[in-house]
Amino acid sequence: MYYIGVDLGTSAVKLLLMEGDGSIKNIVSKEYPLSFPKPGWSEQNPEDWNTQVMAGIKELISGIDGSKVAGISFGGQMHGLVILDKDDNVIRPAILWNDGRTTKECEYLNNVIGKDKLSEYTANIAFAGFTAPKILWVKANEPDNFARIAKIMLPKDYIAYKLSGVHCTDVSDASGMLLFDVKNRTWSKEMCEICSVKEEQLAKIYESYETVGNILPGIAEELGISKDCKIVAGAGDNAAAAVGTGTVGDGACNISLGTSGTIFISSKKFGVDSNNALHSFAHADGTYHLMGCMLSAASCNKWWMDDIIGTQDYAGEQKGITKLGENHVFFLPYLMGERSPINDPLARATFTGLTMDSTRADMTQAVLEGVAFALRDSFEVARSLGVDIKRSKICGGGAKSPLWKKIVANVLNIKIDVIESEEGPALGGAMLAAVANGEYASVQAAADAIVKIVDTVEPDAELVAKYEARYQEFKRIYPALKPVFNA
Ligand code: XUL
Repeated sequence: MYYIGVDLGTSAVKLLLMEGDGSIKNIVSKEYPLSFPKPGWSEQNPEDWNTQVMAGIKELISGIDGSKVAGISFGGQMHGLVILDKDDNVIRPAILWNDGRTTKECEYLNNVIGKDKLSEYTANIAFAGFTAPKILWVKANEPDNFARIAKIMLPKDYIAYKLSGVHCTDVSDASGMLLFDVKNRTWSKEMCEICSVKEEQLAKIYESYETVGNILPGIAEELGISKDCKIVAGAGDNAAAAVGTGTVGDGACNISLGTSGTIFISSKKFGVDSNNALHSFAHADGTYHLMGCMLSAASCNKWWMDDIIGTQDYAGEQKGITKLGENHVFFLPYLMGERSPINDPLARATFTGLTMDSTRADMTQAVLEGVAFALRDSFEVARSLGVDIKRSKICGGGAKSPLWKKIVANVLNIKIDVIESEEGPALGGAMLAAVANGEYASVQAAADAIVKIVDTVEPDAELVAKYEARYQEFKRIYPALKPVFNA
């Protein structure tokens, strides 16, 4: 049988067709627009997602027997606010995970309600991109829209709804709403009250590997697949990526270099970082994880390459980089503000240390290094909690670059395990669909059978020492500039 994984990303949806044994048969990608209506705002039209998912599935399965598609599941961009009216029409464009408009609402939640209360109710505090502050923003700024809300959905759950007719979500994605009691895997009554949300406005919660229903007959017909095809809850893209890279079990680590950059540490036990700098979320395998998320990772390189230098030849640009560990240019990667660990929507990107002899290659290198240094900031928080990470998997668009993997391995001083497919969330989604259909007894069993390590990038002692010195310099730049950003 075949399983489809839908990775509903920020710039595009990636769809992956997997056979029951884990072999990948096809991958299709379809882009959609992303709008930045004001500096720091970020929106998308949920109907664009749906159009491209439907077109993508048709293309993905052309040439195979559609009646053998047994399940569809998801990895989706997290935290986005999708609001539906009583007829399930979308009320306004979705406000995305990297939108920074909710400074005021976060201040209210963190300082008036209080971080300790938020952490007690949800295991997390308010970050600008989380869903609950956005609900408060709509209430304060668009009261007419707020009054019309019948359902509050997350991005991938809107697609699951369009395919199945069920208003569903999963534990990993719900964790990022700040309305969810992560420890007990249920909606938080206290948070719903604080945010003026009624529980019936929220979706039904599933574990990521649970079936929410069959595909709607009309959609099955349109796509040419069996009416018995199961729609499976799926996961937030980071938990789905963790499944796709085999990051399950205690203390396993995955780094994602996508539009966002994340470090994801799986854990069998529920735990909270005492400063809440890392997110404490439910995992897609039935357990938990800690995660640090930077808002701009591979997107910094994409911005630098596409918009500033004006090239598509990423590998060609990286060939000019020869002085690893010796670059005197630094880049702060805060193009959309920053989430973990500094939690500052007003932070901005900068190049620092430019001189007359600085080259284009130095600046390209600084961008790659700046992302690695900022990832290390979250990594240091994990280390301070006693989490001893010696190696990590890696996925996402940035993981295609051997140079970037080498920089990350040396900046973090860990081994980076490269896996056969870096299609983390899409593969993870397909694996969750296979588990729901009984192809594997558990998510762990699917990961053990499917995920293969094909290479390991080892840190080099001399380079680690050079990067250690440079990281110490990098760490001083943001605190020095913070007053400028905040002004
Ligand atoms: C995680 C986060 C991002 C998005 C990107 O907390 O906000 O990784 O999920 O799609």
